[in-house]
Amino acid sequence: MRLFSARLIIALILGITLASLSFSYYQVLVERRGLRRDLEHRAEVLGESLAGNVEHDLDKGSTRALQRIVERFGNREHLIGIAIYDQQNDLTVATPVLAPILKVTPSIVPQALRENRGFGSFQRLADQRVHIYVIPLHQAESEVIGGLAIVHDAEYISADVRQIWRETFLSALVYVLIITVITLLIVRWSIAGPIARTAQWMRALRTGRVSARQHAPDLQLFRPLAREVATLTESLNEARSAAKNEARLREASVSLWTADRLAVHVRTRLDRAHLLVVSNREPYIHVRQGRTWEVVVPPSGLVTALEPVLRACDGTWVAHGSGDADAQTVDEHDRLRVPPDDPRYTLRRVWLTKQEEEGYYYGFANEGLWPLCHIAHTRPIFRASDWNYYQEVNHKFAKTVLEEIEDIERPVILLQDYHFALLPRLIKQQRPDARVAIFWHIPWPNPEAFGICPWQRELLDGLLGADLIGFHIQSHCNNFLQTVDKTLESRVDWEHFSVRRLGHLTSVKPFPISVDLVENTPLDPPVSGDARAALLKTLSVDVPFVGLGVDRVDYTKGILERFLAIERFLDKYPQYQGQFTFIQIGAPSRTHIKRYHDLLTEVEAEAERINWHFQTDKWKPIVFLKRQHGHQEIQDYYRAADLCLVTSLHDGMNLVAKEFLAARQDERGVLILSCFTGAARELPDALLVNPYDIDQTAEAIRAALEMSPEEIQARMRRMRNIVMEHNVYRWAGSLIADLCEVRLEVPSEISDKAYATAPAE
Ligand code: G6P
Repeated sequence: MRLFSARLIIALILGITLASLSFSYYQVLVERRGLRRDLEHRAEVLGESLAGNVEHDLDKGSTRALQRIVERFGNREHLIGIAIYDQQNDLTVATPVLAPILKVTPSIVPQALRENRGFGSFQRLADQRVHIYVIPLHQAESEVIGGLAIVHDAEYISADVRQIWRETFLSALVYVLIITVITLLIVRWSIAGPIARTAQWMRALRTGRVSARQHAPDLQLFRPLAREVATLTESLNEARSAAKNEARLREASVSLWTADRLAVHVRTRLDRAHLLVVSNREPYIHVRQGRTWEVVVPPSGLVTALEPVLRACDGTWVAHGSGDADAQTVDEHDRLRVPPDDPRYTLRRVWLTKQEEEGYYYGFANEGLWPLCHIAHTRPIFRASDWNYYQEVNHKFAKTVLEEIEDIERPVILLQDYHFALLPRLIKQQRPDARVAIFWHIPWPNPEAFGICPWQRELLDGLLGADLIGFHIQSHCNNFLQTVDKTLESRVDWEHFSVRRLGHLTSVKPFPISVDLVENTPLDPPVSGDARAALLKTLSVDVPFVGLGVDRVDYTKGILERFLAIERFLDKYPQYQGQFTFIQIGAPSRTHIKRYHDLLTEVEAEAERINWHFQTDKWKPIVFLKRQHGHQEIQDYYRAADLCLVTSLHDGMNLVAKEFLAARQDERGVLILSCFTGAARELPDALLVNPYDIDQTAEAIRAALEMSPEEIQARMRRMRNIVMEHNVYRWAGSLIADLCEVRLEVPSEISDKAYATAPAE
């Protein structure tokens, strides 16, 4: 910095000096020219006025009269004197001071007389700078009879010029000083200061004293730089903690999955093949905010799981562009690079009309397939018009996917969920060289239940276009194979869990989805009593025991049954009245659908009824928080709760249960879990309940509140270890590994004969 300042000062001084000297030189030239002109003019005027007087006396030869005239003009400003010459250029008379220096006739005298006009010239006479002006003298206005020379001292012009040089030099010096000081101050305030603050901040980031988003100094001039630095530091911190984690895991000889391991794994498995993910929900939604927009990341386990995969291989995610500012933020091919502040992969948005969204998403997917697959006693609604939209939208997505893979050989495609049952077949028909997997995030019911769907054959046929179909648990795979066996002409291989239909082989396997629990030692300090009290105070809750529920308000989640169990518990164990509060975070969901809209009202009314029954001035048993909460907010609630209640009537996996475990680095808190969730298969240390059995759930609440701290810790530790070992990175890694191992069969190679005799795979 010091070297930079010194160089800057030298450059400034040289620059300013050079500029002001050039300017001064020009000034001097102009001034000098003006002074000389002025002197010439004066000489001419004097010459003209004297000539008339002198001519008469010269003509008469009156030397005395001439002498008098020249002596009269001896003392004018800067005038040295006057001299008169005769026709032969000889000096006739001259002012006394002039006579000794005019020993030789100046050359302009004969010139003026010869050419009969006035001449002036600057020259040296006896070591003196003078100006001589010679004007011819005439007899009777015709014949030249001599010349009049006017001699001025021109030395003062040089003196004036020297003075101007001196003054401009001094003022240049002052300018240099002032400008240098001002520039240095500007540099210090607006460049050096912020750079020093940034350096300090970066040092703090490097040493982990602040996070990249915190305390960024105000860098008006360097904002783009600051953003880049923040992103860079975040990546560095991530890399550092990943490396630390890897080292710790190596030390403990445990082979756990991390985002980095998944990235390496995916790169190796894909071997440069392009990866595409297709889902209905997009990972980044642009939502209008006044004149600008903001980016919303939907709280979804899917984004957590698939983002590291896409980042690792710079893949493409195709999804419905549902945000009201989505169209403004894509390029002409409806693509954008995401994550917005660290672009690593491409998001391709698909636009749906209101009618398509209504028929495909709200109608067929969520009023038809959702209740069909969740046995939660809400009757599925199958409208032919919804089915038409479902087919149309699947075709639209297929067209987009085919466009995206047009020039790509052997692409790998991961389709997500019940919104896209027809997509595998539509893609494979056009691109048999693509590897296609579909993961079904919700349960698959038994064949009788699924059989009520009027389009079950079409759905199954569409799904069987895939090379691999994934469910959360084995029993969903079994249900699926039974449904296929019962419904379609195909060969189901129960030994290898695969289906051969129309010459194509589809493997069916469980891949239990999970959360991003990777740490095996607590990182955050345990939540203090004060932090918990402060959080609860915001809700006016002041009790020793807190229960928590976190759900989309969906009839499959068993929220009403949960409230009934709380009521039963408080009735049965009145000592807990005033001592236990249940906080229910309920994110309104799919509220355009009447069943969901009504459910929201029902849940609110039920909470109110129970509260009215028990509440006192200072306490009520249920706090219902009806809004979408951010990830961090939910983490705080998870960490403040004594128990978490998950009472789904039916659930593919249920990630709330696993998120609660992931948040409890303090190894405290009890999980009460419905036995109808996929998660229940992996977590026998939860208190498993049948949510329809209100008494059983009430008993589980009591058991959780009265469990010894040692048992709570032992159960929590075992469950956390299971989730850590089977985390979301393992889920994505196994799904991709299995898909990459599929042996692709090109249809032309497969004959009916081969179909009849093919050995079991
Ligand atoms: C379930 C589905 C997901 C869906 C999520 C949220 O978990 O399996 O595909 O994204 O619910 O529902 P939404 O309809 O709001 O996307």
